[in-house]
Amino acid sequence: MTTGPAFPAGFTWGSATASYQVEGSVDADGRTPSIWDVFSATPGKVVGGDTGEVADDHYRRFREDVALMQRLGLQAYRFSVAWPRITPAVTPEALGPVEQRGLDFYSALVDELLAAGIEPAVTLYHWDLPQALEDAGGWADRRTAERFAEYAEVVAGALGDRVKTFITLNEPWCSAYLGYAAGVHAPGRTEPAAALAAVHHLNLAHGLGSRAVRRAAPEARVALTLNLAWVRPEDESSPADVDAARRIDGLQNRVFLGPVLRGEYPADVLEDTAGVTDWAFVRDGDLDVVHQPLDALGLNYYSPTVVRSVTSPRATEARPGADGHGAGAASPWVGSAELVQFVDLPGPRTAMDWAIDPRGMTELLLRLRDEAPGVPLMVTENGAAYPDEVEQGPDGEPRVHDADRTAYLHAHVSAVHDAVQQGADVRAYFVWSLLDNFEWAYGYSKRFGVVHVDYGTQRRTPKDSALWYSRLAAGNALPPL
Ligand code: FCB
Repeated sequence: MTTGPAFPAGFTWGSATASYQVEGSVDADGRTPSIWDVFSATPGKVVGGDTGEVADDHYRRFREDVALMQRLGLQAYRFSVAWPRITPAVTPEALGPVEQRGLDFYSALVDELLAAGIEPAVTLYHWDLPQALEDAGGWADRRTAERFAEYAEVVAGALGDRVKTFITLNEPWCSAYLGYAAGVHAPGRTEPAAALAAVHHLNLAHGLGSRAVRRAAPEARVALTLNLAWVRPEDESSPADVDAARRIDGLQNRVFLGPVLRGEYPADVLEDTAGVTDWAFVRDGDLDVVHQPLDALGLNYYSPTVVRSVTSPRATEARPGADGHGAGAASPWVGSAELVQFVDLPGPRTAMDWAIDPRGMTELLLRLRDEAPGVPLMVTENGAAYPDEVEQGPDGEPRVHDADRTAYLHAHVSAVHDAVQQGADVRAYFVWSLLDNFEWAYGYSKRFGVVHVDYGTQRRTPKDSALWYSRLAAGNALPPL
C-alpha cells in the first residue's frame, strides 16, 4: 500500500471531546449546574430539547472509551474539565471548597490514559461555566476571570504531575459572542456591550489562568485554543469588501491575538465598537497580564469565511446569524452587524451547512507561523458532521461508511502538511471528535464523531473514518482514501 506525505517524527495524532458534550452524570459526585444545563433546559434553545444529562455517559464509561482510543492507536486525548465538578459552590467572591470526587474523576481518567500510552491534553474551560457565576454577571463580570484562575490552579495542582499540556480556554470567540451577543449559546444573552466585556474578561482569564497553571505545574505547557477565521473579501478589488473583511478579522481573530501575542487591543476594533462600549472594563495592567508567554497555540478550524459590504452590488438580504453555530435573530458581530454580510460559498458543505475549504487551515497556520514565531502550533480541533447511516456488515456487526468524513479529514490533514512544509511548527492534530456527542445548540442532531454512538444503547462503533485515522496515526503519513 502506498502512503502519502509523511509528517515530522514525533507528530502527535489525537482526538478531542469536551466535558458537557460527552460526560452526562450531571448530578453526580457533587456537580452543580453549569450555564449549559440551564440553557439546554430552556425550551426552544436546543434542537429537539436535547440536553447533556446523559450524553455519551463518558463519566461512567471512560475506561471503555480509553480502551477504544488505544485500540485505534490514538496518541493523545484532549478533554475538558467541568468547572462545576471541581468547585461546585463557587461564588463571584470566593472559589469555595474543592470537590475531591470531581478531581478524582479526572485523575482516574488521566491515569487510565497514561496506562494506555495516550497523552492527556486538558482544556480548563470548554464552555460549562458554573451557573452561580453567570447569575452574578458571568463573563461580563471581571470576578469570573479571577475565580477561573483560582480554579485553574486547583486543577493544575491536582493533575500537573502527569498532564503536560493545559489549554486555558477553548474558543473564547464562541463564549463571548455566541453566548452574550447572538444568544445562540449559553447563557443566551443578547447584549452586545456584555459580549465585548466578556471578550476582555476571557482574555484576562487566559492571562491569569496561565500564571496560575505555571505556579501549580511549572513543568507543564500552557496553551490557548482559538477558532481563528480565514476571512476573505468577496471582491478583493472592492475597498468596501476589504473593509468588511478587516472588521470581521478584527472581531474574530485580532481581538484575541492582539492582547495575547502583543499585549494590545487593535485600535481599529476599539474604533469599530466605540458605539457599543468605551472598553472601560480594561484596567491598567490588564494587557500585561493577558500577554503571557505561550508554550503552544491551538487552532480549531472547520470552514472558510467570505464577507462583503452591505453596500456591495451583490448584497442580498442580511444574514446576521451567519455564525456557523445556529442562526439566531441577534448578530454576534458586535458593532459591524449592519455593515457586513456573509457570502454563501458554492461547493460542497457538511451537515452543519458549513462550506469546505481546507486551504483556510494552511493559511491560518502560516499566519500563526508569522505572527507567533517560536510558538509551537497544534490543531486542537478539525472534523465534520455528516448524516451517517449505520449499516450491517457481512459479519452482522454495525458499520458506518462515512466516506465524506474521511475525505474531509484527508483534505484537511493534507492542508496541515502543506503548512508544515512551509515552515509552520505544527506538533499535533486532534480530530473533532472521538465520539458523536451533544453538539451545543444542535443537540444530538449533528454527528461529528469518528466513532458512532447509539444513544439508545451507548454502543460505540468506529466509523470507517476512525479506521482511516488509525492508519494515519500508525504510519505518521497520509494513508490513501
Ligand atoms: C467547536 C467547539 C466544539 C464542537 C465543534 C464542532 O466550535 O469547540 O465543542 O462543537 O465546534
